[in-house]
Amino acid sequence: MKSVLFSRFFILLPWVLIVIIMIDVDTKRSSVRNTAQFYLSRLGNAQRHERPVSPWKNRTALPVIYAITPTYSRAVQKAELTRLSNTFRQVPQFHWIVVEDSNTRTELVSRFLARCGVPYTHLNIFTPRRFKRIGMPRATEQRNTALSWLRQHRSLKDAGVVFFADDDNTYSLELFEEMRSTRRVAVWPVGLVGGRRYERPLVEKGKVVGWYTGWRADRPFAIDMAGFAVNLHVILSNPRAQFKRRGAKPGMQESDFLKQITKVEDLEPKANNCTKVLVWHTRTEKVNLGNEPKHHQDTVHIEV
Ligand SMILES: *[C@@H]1O[C@H](CO)[C@@H](O)[C@H](O)[C@H]1NC(C)=O
Ligand SMILES: *[C@@H]1O[C@H](CO)[C@@H](O)[C@H](O)[C@H]1NC(C)=O
Repeated sequence: MKSVLFSRFFILLPWVLIVIIMIDVDTKRSSVRNTAQFYLSRLGNAQRHERPVSPWKNRTALPVIYAITPTYSRAVQKAELTRLSNTFRQVPQFHWIVVEDSNTRTELVSRFLARCGVPYTHLNIFTPRRFKRIGMPRATEQRNTALSWLRQHRSLKDAGVVFFADDDNTYSLELFEEMRSTRRVAVWPVGLVGGRRYERPLVEKGKVVGWYTGWRADRPFAIDMAGFAVNLHVILSNPRAQFKRRGAKPGMQESDFLKQITKVEDLEPKANNCTKVLVWHTRTEKVNLGNEPKHHQDTVHIEV
């Protein structure tokens, strides 16, 4: 049995080498590349290492994806950030802007980011207590701080796409491939949101014509924070566009923001004309720490 496997391996080996040489000789001719990929995919094991075919050949020429993540201290914070970083680490040309709701950049988040393997910028701004009430939109200050950072540190020379990546969602890698080509404002479905299995922009002839949603479909942009991305140039050329604190209601933040930079008819539907769910509003269950006060605390301090 083993010898049969070995002989198969040695029969295949020269072909693998030929294919690799073909790729090396001319990576620019996509026809050769596709042929190579066809043969590679036939070789079983080789398939596992193959990346999805990307329209972008030169990685450094990709627009950078700036993911803005507001975060705050809580029992599940590090777990949530870990899940996100495990996804983001696999996305090429990616820059994570993490904004803590805190008076300082905390040690936990600083240490975490330094080791997470994702290029990042670490910011903080404390939300005044008067805004921390039920019925008030959340993370407004943090998102606006990230937008200010982009306006100060990036210019129209830089190619980029800005995305609001809350830390309680789950992101497919495919989502980043989709949003990378955002020219102005791109939209797509979001799973497990609005009390429904998913919400999505309704698309006809490649244009957004309405919203399939569980809640207030009359909003001008009835979309979740995780359902859109904005080209960096749009952010830079609308320097006053930001998330509103005054008069803002929860659930209207997205709509209020998008109104300032685009119109519904200009939205670019992604994810197969908004028929694929590539991001989920998973939300982590509130953890039960009910037994903590009943026991002695550990003698060593362990970060969770
Ligand atoms: C890739 O694109 C960058 C930026 O446009 C350019 O500087 C670089 O020379 C390109 N590399 C290749 C191999 O084409
Ligand atoms: C989206 O719909 C438009 C118009 O019907 C069509 O031309 C286009 O190919 C579709 N895009 C995708 C990715 O299916």
